[in-house]
Amino acid sequence: MRGLSIGAASVLLRIAVVISLKRSINEVKVPSCDGFHNIYLDNIEEDQEEEEDDEETTTATTITGRGNDHDYDFYRNTCPQAETIVRSKMAQIVSRHNDVPAALLRLFFHDCFVKGCDASVILTDSKGERSNFTERQAVPNRTLKGFDILDLIKEEVEKACPGVVSCADILALATRDGILLVGGPFYPVFTGRRDSIHSYFNEAVVEIPNPDGNLSETLHLFGLKGFDERETVTLLGAHNIGKISCEFIQNRLYNFLATGQPDPSVPLDFLNEMRINCQEIRDSRNGLSPTAANPSISESTIFRGLTSISSGAGFDNHFYQNLVRGRGLLFSDQQLMADEKTARYVRDYAFGDGSAFRTDFARVMVKISILNVLTGFQGQVRTNCSLPLYGS
Ligand SMILES: *[C@@H]1O[C@H](CO)[C@@H](O)[C@H](O)[C@H]1NC(C)=O
Ligand SMILES: *[C@@H]1O[C@H](CO)[C@@H](O)[C@H](O)[C@H]1NC(C)=O
Ligand SMILES: *[C@@H]1O[C@H](CO)[C@@H](O)[C@H](O)[C@H]1NC(C)=O
Ligand SMILES: *[C@@H]1O[C@H](CO)[C@@H](O)[C@H](O)[C@H]1NC(C)=O
Repeated sequence: MRGLSIGAASVLLRIAVVISLKRSINEVKVPSCDGFHNIYLDNIEEDQEEEEDDEETTTATTITGRGNDHDYDFYRNTCPQAETIVRSKMAQIVSRHNDVPAALLRLFFHDCFVKGCDASVILTDSKGERSNFTERQAVPNRTLKGFDILDLIKEEVEKACPGVVSCADILALATRDGILLVGGPFYPVFTGRRDSIHSYFNEAVVEIPNPDGNLSETLHLFGLKGFDERETVTLLGAHNIGKISCEFIQNRLYNFLATGQPDPSVPLDFLNEMRINCQEIRDSRNGLSPTAANPSISESTIFRGLTSISSGAGFDNHFYQNLVRGRGLLFSDQQLMADEKTARYVRDYAFGDGSAFRTDFARVMVKISILNVLTGFQGQVRTNCSLPLYGS
């Protein structure tokens, strides 16, 4: 199986997936916009076996139990150009706005974490009941971005195939393509998701991990979605791209655990560095509206400015290297170093050449991408991603 390379994309993806789920593959070459990217799906370590079996079972059920409801290249007959449209639109957008992939990744994470990857996070109303709160309004809310990007892509796809391709699939594909475009790993994405009719405000408030959360809270919330300690460490590595809004570190910098003091575990020089970048938010308490201020600091600015071990621009493992040095921006991220059960994985990723992180990240993205998806006759395919179709 080593060095597998086949021409036809859909066949190849299908093979890549089936094989990766069987855990017997060593290397698969998969096509992408800029040539071939390798994903290495090495034989898994002993301690992961039990959980991987669960994943395999879930996925196998999805494939066999539901027939063609949810599949690779699900739109091959109904909208064969769908994935190409998403990919080229993303390439176009990212060439001008390279912060889009991180925004979509975050949006996707928030979508999948609440009731599954069903595009419920995009809704601006819940089945016509505008009085109901939506996920978009839930905590942490003000900083979700990328809705306009999805609308742009959806519009193109609708032109080609009206009413066929779900918003949930577009989000999943655009997220994957965005990760690739900023140098992240390729991973195969199922399609055939259906869109939710409802938005789940209450679930979003309770189930989305808190940036001020301690390790046990974070592990608990990821655990509820089926992610173990190692996978939690891997998923949080998504923070290696993009920006973090100052509101998420405000407490750490100025009022940790309501003490009126900063988090004592933050190194002083790093604290000062972060405070310089996050002053506006502090000022906003004295009158400026949070939305007017809403500054965000770039992880790369902060991290790369302070460290020389970063491997350069793009998707890499500098996030973990910074955690090892006590320089994580978010409290919840830095907490990964608070206990050996997660710290050992952080160190593995930090001190490796980055390939272990990439492989694990690809795998964990496959897993989150199929969390509780709607298929078949469940849900609907929205034409406008913000609004459910009424009367269906
Ligand atoms: C609107 O919110 C109420 C109260 O939480 C809930 O009972 C109802 O099901 C929601 N409606 C929709 C369409 O989600
Ligand atoms: C954000 O969430 C908070 C708390 O749930 C809520 O009070 C606020 O209105 C939300 N903001 C937006 C813009 O939806
Ligand atoms: C983590 O936070 C929870 C909720 O605030 C708290 O009950 C728990 O004691 C904390 N755990 C640690 C180890 O600090
Ligand atoms: C989708 O619906 C929203 C809310 O009504 C509207 O503002 C937006 O223009 C619509 N988008 C498209 C592409 O029709």
